[in-house]
Amino acid sequence: MCGVVGYVGSKQAADWLLDGLSTLEYRGYDSAGVQVVSQSGNLHGVKCAGRVATLRERASVANLNGTCGIGHTRWATHGAPTDRNAHPHLDCTGRIAVVHNGIIENFQDLRRELMAAGHHLRSDTDSEVVPHLIEDALAGPAAGDLARAVRNACERLEGAWALAVVCADFPNMLVCTRKGSPLVVASTEDGAYAASDVMPLANVTSTVMQLNDYDVATLSADGSVSIVDRDGVVIDHPSTITIDWDASAATLGGHPDFMAKEISEQPEAIERLLSGRLGEHGVELDELSLTRDELAAVDRVVIIACGTSYHVGLVAKCAIERWARVPVSVEYASEFNYNQEYLVTDHTMCVVITQSGETADTLAAARRMRGMGCNVFAITNVIGSTAAREADGALYIQAGPEVAVASTKAYTAQMVASYLLAMRLGFANGHMTREEVGRRFAQLETIPDLMREVLSRRWQDKQASRLFRDKHSSLFLGRNVSSTTAYEGALKLKEISYQHAEAYPAGEMKHGPIALLEPGFPVVAVVPADHVHDKTVSNIQECIARGAVVIAVATDGDERVAKLCQEVLWIPQCADELIVPVVAVLHLQLLARYVARDRGFDVDKPRNLAKSVTVE
Ligand code: G6P
Repeated sequence: MCGVVGYVGSKQAADWLLDGLSTLEYRGYDSAGVQVVSQSGNLHGVKCAGRVATLRERASVANLNGTCGIGHTRWATHGAPTDRNAHPHLDCTGRIAVVHNGIIENFQDLRRELMAAGHHLRSDTDSEVVPHLIEDALAGPAAGDLARAVRNACERLEGAWALAVVCADFPNMLVCTRKGSPLVVASTEDGAYAASDVMPLANVTSTVMQLNDYDVATLSADGSVSIVDRDGVVIDHPSTITIDWDASAATLGGHPDFMAKEISEQPEAIERLLSGRLGEHGVELDELSLTRDELAAVDRVVIIACGTSYHVGLVAKCAIERWARVPVSVEYASEFNYNQEYLVTDHTMCVVITQSGETADTLAAARRMRGMGCNVFAITNVIGSTAAREADGALYIQAGPEVAVASTKAYTAQMVASYLLAMRLGFANGHMTREEVGRRFAQLETIPDLMREVLSRRWQDKQASRLFRDKHSSLFLGRNVSSTTAYEGALKLKEISYQHAEAYPAGEMKHGPIALLEPGFPVVAVVPADHVHDKTVSNIQECIARGAVVIAVATDGDERVAKLCQEVLWIPQCADELIVPVVAVLHLQLLARYVARDRGFDVDKPRNLAKSVTVE
């Protein structure tokens, strides 16, 4: 979703702004723009619908000289993705430029008011009210003080925002602020930087500063950053994040695309996550803010998430219920937030799962659960993300930067993280002995090698991808925990190949989706060697009887499935049924990628999707 960058310093701003926007492309966007303040005190900018590559072309023939500027990638919410609606937006005088991520909920009232007062607004966006409010503040109560003008303008706003503002009258200054939407700033010898997340900053610094809601940061050309809170009180020691990965972690490193790279990084991600976790308390999870007694008292777990992370929640439910014997409900954050009657017990624990830590619906749900008195635990990949900061405890999955929009390594690492939580709960409440924790943990440690084995069989996915050629739809089936793998496989396929895929618990197929089946219709059946294997095989038979082409995900040595199905994506024997979803899904990630590549699509940046969904 929208990306914000800003720079002021000794270098040409446009170069870094464009590079920063390229790095933020992964968030998802449909238009882009930059604005630079020249030393002679004028604004110069370019903006356009489409890719940052197009913006670069336009920038190369525009006069973008200046050492202070802002940039933006826009994911349209209000107003179509056109050149006119692209950011930055200017005030009436053309001397103030603003980029914004978030939604100004009261923009219609503000717009009406501004236009009645004679302001000229040119776009259909909610964001455009902001430069005009700053214009009024600079012309009145905050004359000569850009930071104060931004603060004054924000007092009028409702909703969420991350803003970066430049003004031609202050060629050596950049002002940033946020409420709800992410924004970090950094001070370096070359100048000061702002960005929606740490990704564009990784090659200029290893330490970034976090802004709290309503903080206003003034960035200066000498590289200094000064931050004041909502009341104008100076914040001497803002909280910081250390970027603990090399900037090269966010480059392709020889892989054809980020999705391929991230799929292949999964074994190492799981090894990192498990390293040092087995100890005196069974699983060491110091990140939990609950004592052993409090953990033992947990009588209900509510897991809240969106998208792929929601599928992690479904697997986590199986693990927590099986190992810790605590009932679990899994909720879509966007649904939970509007369920007026949600009931919790005195000892309900809330777990939010969010790789980005910035998904607006998930954050709102976590706040609501805290408001209801629940302890909130976040499982996330992004250090210092809002979810992690606002939760009572946070477990970082340490999967490293995930650039492809479709989540892969964060998915499997989040699953394993939720297993660690299940074991910690089970040990605390006495449902798991130390020996059992040790045994389960040893099973988790087999995952990286099982994954490596699946990765070495990627040719099977390539071969199976042919069966999706010229098809419009497919059905993914599985039972119990494997139904979750089916959901995730169908989601991956939809996300990057734009081919419709429906996922169903295999036994439910006969209550509707079976009507879709016709000769040649592709069905992906997740049918590992587990306690429901024979039942799923019966469902495969039902599909074949209707002419469907079945691609199975099955366990090595399963002759029955091999005889029945057109293609088999083989997984090695797994020590437990709960290990299977972490391993089997790699085939479906690979399959989706091959289908999408076959159809000629950019697997890293699927249309309309965003990596970090910062609006509700
Ligand atoms: C977007 C992304 C998905 C992700 C979902 C939830 O839709 O494209 O890959 O699963 O958001 O994101 P989160 O950061 O909360 O896990």
